[in-house]
Amino acid sequence: MDSPQYRVFVCTKKRPVDDPEGCCCNAGALNIYQAFANEVERLQLGDRIKVRKSGCLDQCESGAVAMICQPARRDFGWLPTKIRIKLRKLLFPQRHLYGNLTVEDVQAIAQSHLIKGKPLQRCQISPRS
Ligand code: FES
Repeated sequence: MDSPQYRVFVCTKKRPVDDPEGCCCNAGALNIYQAFANEVERLQLGDRIKVRKSGCLDQCESGAVAMICQPARRDFGWLPTKIRIKLRKLLFPQRHLYGNLTVEDVQAIAQSHLIKGKPLQRCQISPRS
C-alpha cells in the first residue's frame, strides 16, 4: 500500500477562552480542518492526501495552525509513542507550518502546496525554536 503524498495536521487543541496561551480551537481551527477536508474531497485527492486533527503544534500564538508533511518512507509504527513524537522531525523531514489561517487561505494552500507541490509562502510561519 502506498503512503499518502501529504499529511495535513490541523491543530484543534482547545483551552479555556481566558487561557493566556490561547489555542487554535478558539481561532477557528475546526472550520480550518473542515475546509481542508472539503477541499481534498472536492479535488478528489483523498487517495494521496490525508487530513487529520492534531494536538498542539507549539505555535499557539499563530493559531489557527496547520502543518503539512510528507511522510517518511519507513514505517516506525512499532516504536513507543513517546519516541515517535520525539522523532517527528526525522519522521517528517519535509514539513511546513502555516499559521493565522482563515478558511479562505485553505483553497490557496491546496492549490499551491497540495497540487503543485509549492508551499504557499504568504501563510507560512517559522517554527518556534
Ligand atoms: S494550540 Fe494550536 S499550536 Fe498550540
